[in-house]
Amino acid sequence: MEGKYDFGLVGLGVMGRNFILNVADNGFSAFGHDLDAEKVKALKEEGGHEATVNASTSIKTFVQALKQPRKIMLLVPAGKIVDSVIESLLPHIDRGDIIIDGGNSFFTDTDRREEYLQEKAINFFGAGVSGGAKGARLGPSIMPGGSKSAYAHIKPIFEAVSAKYNGEPCVAYLGPKSSGNYVKMVHNGIEYGLMQLTSEIYDLLKKAGGYSNEELHTTYTKWNEGRLQSFLVEITSKIFIQKDDVNLGKLGLLDQISDKAKQKGTGKWTSQNAMDLGIPVPSIDIAVSMREISALKLERTAADKLYDKPEVETIDKAELEKMAEEALYFAFIITYAQGLHQLADASKEYKYNLDIATIAKIWREGCIIRAGLLADITEAFQEDANLPNLLVSPNFVKKIQSTVGSARTLVAHAAKNGIPLPGLTNSLTYFDAYTSTRLPLNLIQAQRDYFGSHTYERLDQEGIFHTEWD
Ligand code: 6PG
Repeated sequence: MEGKYDFGLVGLGVMGRNFILNVADNGFSAFGHDLDAEKVKALKEEGGHEATVNASTSIKTFVQALKQPRKIMLLVPAGKIVDSVIESLLPHIDRGDIIIDGGNSFFTDTDRREEYLQEKAINFFGAGVSGGAKGARLGPSIMPGGSKSAYAHIKPIFEAVSAKYNGEPCVAYLGPKSSGNYVKMVHNGIEYGLMQLTSEIYDLLKKAGGYSNEELHTTYTKWNEGRLQSFLVEITSKIFIQKDDVNLGKLGLLDQISDKAKQKGTGKWTSQNAMDLGIPVPSIDIAVSMREISALKLERTAADKLYDKPEVETIDKAELEKMAEEALYFAFIITYAQGLHQLADASKEYKYNLDIATIAKIWREGCIIRAGLLADITEAFQEDANLPNLLVSPNFVKKIQSTVGSARTLVAHAAKNGIPLPGLTNSLTYFDAYTSTRLPLNLIQAQRDYFGSHTYERLDQEGIFHTEWD
């Protein structure tokens, strides 16, 4: 068994087990490691032939089983555990070996680990993997960043196991250092934005259109067959008609699920880092805030009792459905635009040298934010790699122009009727502000100078000015 296996994987949880089986299905032999003997046993049983899939609880046996340079992927929870797995590998591995962190690690942790391992001549990759357990098994989108020359060793395996879009693998070398983890972080930020939007449109259709779960299923199914085609719209259509195994015969499962949404942190990191960079991503920010507001269930319930709510005016179903489809499409575009804007800026700041078209390309299949729209986004950045924002791409100007009207009507209707549409509202506000030559922030400059002598610039003259306002 010494030095026989093409690929090693540490962490045989659902993701790890599925990934390793996927590697084996694609003609590469793989060896897994986990301290949990049950998980090792389960993989061996499921893996079939020992020459293709094998596993051990011993880190030494694991490392010795791999061909050099060793390609060792970690699919363990982000945080300290990644460091401890690296430490446990170090006494056994050799110079030139490659460690790939496939988890949602924070990008500065990846930079720190890369520098540390570079001193030991070990190549380190941060490679975001998206697509959940099913994706890991059948084809995820993979976002690797690290040493370009070392990537040549993992490329054939990653290209084989990844999802395919018209035969093209949904994986590509993205850039140096933590670029892979950074791209995955923003992917998740966009994921938060799109999830918020699909959820609030569901609320609007229910409240302003009186939609039943079956009708919502039909509507989202229809949308998924059109320009809104996406993994999230698709699964949402199915969620609406999921039966409840616990309360058989009563409401559907969705109506029994608590409305407190949890989060693991990647959406918040996207927003926090966008603030650090000075790049506005309000559609993502509000999605994070909404998860926070959702968690305040007791406070919300108490506050609800203090206020009268307007009687909701209903909208004709056919009209509402048409407007909701347009508004959702509009806000999806705006959310991708913000995330990609952040990536372009981060690329300069952190010297990632990212190619936005390549990123959009590898998101077309396999990942959670895969959508028909990404084919158009890929084209827009292929036509102009330096596009400052999707909003100024000629093709997208047409798409936005033809749908923004519905976003306006629905935001106004929702505001009047007390239905929160925060994602759509923020997307519309971002659009209106980004496309305004003149904003009222001249007044903010005047105020800053008034109370703090912070100075201001003028439209009619060069230079820095201060006024004695009183
Ligand atoms: C993916 C997902 C995955 C995970 C999210 C969940 O791309 O496959 O994004 O990474 O499901 O991180 O995030 P929250 O728990 O924060 O919603």
